[in-house]
Amino acid sequence: KRYLVLNGPNLNMTGIRERGVYGTGTLEDIYGEIRALAEELGVEVDFYQSNYEGALIDQLHAAHEGYDGVILNAGAYTHYSYAIRDAIAAIDTPVVEVHISNVHAREEFRKTSVIAPVCMGTIAGFGPKGYLLALRALEEEE
Ligand code: DQA
Repeated sequence: KRYLVLNGPNLNMTGIRERGVYGTGTLEDIYGEIRALAEELGVEVDFYQSNYEGALIDQLHAAHEGYDGVILNAGAYTHYSYAIRDAIAAIDTPVVEVHISNVHAREEFRKTSVIAPVCMGTIAGFGPKGYLLALRALEEEE
């Protein structure tokens, strides 16, 4: 099995930005935890981060053939990108929506996810561990 961990805008600033919300670990630290779990589960994981909507859409399209699942933290695009939603709907590959923070306990605009209806499920509020839970969820699903 091969999974893609796809992170959207500002996630490259994890560990630097709003530490009280997103924690002190960097995206590289999170990748390390995911790599360790992937090894334990005997699966392959690739990582991609972009601050650009179109680049994320290209990766989702590529995931249609190359991957058994996608773990997606779309950042703020979650709340308004119909283009990312359509890209998820366009592929057969299951996508799990992840948020580091509990988006429901924050500003009103974060309570809406336009991608949730086309995702397999959503994990939010468990910090970086959410990515690990998503990987386990994908593994147990198939
Ligand atoms: C986030 C939550 C979003 O609302 C925010 O725009 C992010 C990160 C999270 O991981 O908690 O950039 O997706």
